[in-house]
Amino acid sequence: MGERYSPRKLGLEELVRVLVQEHAVMREGLEQARDAARRKDFGAVARTLKEIDPVFRQHIVDEEFEILGLLIRSLGVKGAEKEILVFRQHRPIYALMTKIRELAAAPSGELEARETELEALFSEHARVEESEVFPKATSLGGRDSK
Ligand SMILES: [Fe+2]
Ligand SMILES: [Fe+2]
Repeated sequence: MGERYSPRKLGLEELVRVLVQEHAVMREGLEQARDAARRKDFGAVARTLKEIDPVFRQHIVDEEFEILGLLIRSLGVKGAEKEILVFRQHRPIYALMTKIRELAAAPSGELEARETELEALFSEHARVEESEVFPKATSLGGRDSK
């Protein structure tokens, strides 16, 4: 995953603004997918998740390359330990999104439970990024990034 995407060349503050906007897009998409799952409209679940897929893939590339890159260059692996753990959630979150799209093609009761799990995982992940990771990166300044 991510092979087709390369980091967007944005300044740090602009990038953080875009990433926070994308969290809102993702939250809304996940909410729509969950509502569709409750209506048993599995076609809409698959379509909605497909729509946010490129958003999330680009988002992950920028977070890992720019934000985590900056934190590690500035603070070292030890100093960025917490953020490394936060960003390690990207693969399981993405894998869960993929799994739900598969389940939507052959619907079962598992889909709704996974949908709820995905929403909770992403929501907590975005909360930690916005309240801790992005402020920490921003406080290190954009000088290092470009
Ligand atoms: Fe993230
Ligand atoms: Fe994020």
